Amino acid sequence: MDLTTTIAGVKFPSCLMNASGALCVTKDELVTLGRSRAGAIVTKSMTVEARAGNPEPRYYGFPGGSINSMGLPNLGYRAYAEMIPDLKRFGKPVIASVAGLCEEDFLTIAREINRAQPDLIEVNLSCPNIPGKPQIGYDVADSERLLKRVRPLITVPMGVKLPPYFDPAHHAVMAEVIRRSNVDYLNLINSVGNGLVVDRQRETAVIKPKGGFGGLGGTLIKPVALANVRAFWKLLDGAIPIIGTGGVTEGGDVFEHLLCGASAVQVGTVLVEESVSVFERLERELAETLEAKGYKSIADCRGKLKEL
Ligand code: DHB
Repeated sequence: MDLTTTIAGVKFPSCLMNASGALCVTKDELVTLGRSRAGAIVTKSMTVEARAGNPEPRYYGFPGGSINSMGLPNLGYRAYAEMIPDLKRFGKPVIASVAGLCEEDFLTIAREINRAQPDLIEVNLSCPNIPGKPQIGYDVADSERLLKRVRPLITVPMGVKLPPYFDPAHHAVMAEVIRRSNVDYLNLINSVGNGLVVDRQRETAVIKPKGGFGGLGGTLIKPVALANVRAFWKLLDGAIPIIGTGGVTEGGDVFEHLLCGASAVQVGTVLVEESVSVFERLERELAETLEAKGYKSIADCRGKLKEL
């Protein structure tokens, strides 16, 4: 079964890869992704300076998914720029995820990381976990201004990672921003921000930062992820490739993302819980699903969701 994919002219040996944030902060973690069956190496979102992140505990997995408030722990863009040539030797695309703490930071990081020539650069408009900083993706004017300023600084394909939207009017207005901003691909969705998981036994929150509020991932967010993939696929007429992220734990979940319009799929929570062997399992399960349904490649089922 052909599980390769192409996004913005860049060929991926597999359509399955890590979601930014999951096991991709250190060079060791990134090399481990390089050696694995992952179809790409996606970096942790990088800031200008290295960050230790929020106080622990800051990730908690539970049967339906996970909650995290990591607070952007990362090595700073200079360290990732230096690693990129080594990471590119694994023969799969390297995606550099960029997350400034202010607009100027995005421009600085984009300009400099672009010099290291990752295969793609992903502008993250959707980090929910920095105390006092709202997600840029929830402000349409801020998003458009930032994309307008950052686009000319990037010479490789530029993607945008968006937060989940919960109303068709919000899908529509952001799709127009994306259409106007010369975006090469979308990554949908980031974690569902600012949920709260309670440990009723201890009568506590389960993570320490922000009074226990954190980004939700895993199975419980799959319908939100699929709805966002589908909404943007339709609004943009399938013309901008989409990486579907959210709620994937088995091959059948990948298939659902493909049906909704995704060209590739990323895994966060299940990668953290299962480590990089997950890619082999998902490949096998996806291939079995596609074969059983008579599809010959992922392109054959992309966007083919039937509406009743
Ligand atoms: C973090 C979480 C995110 O969802 C994101 O997009 C970037 C950073 C974090 O808490 O580290």
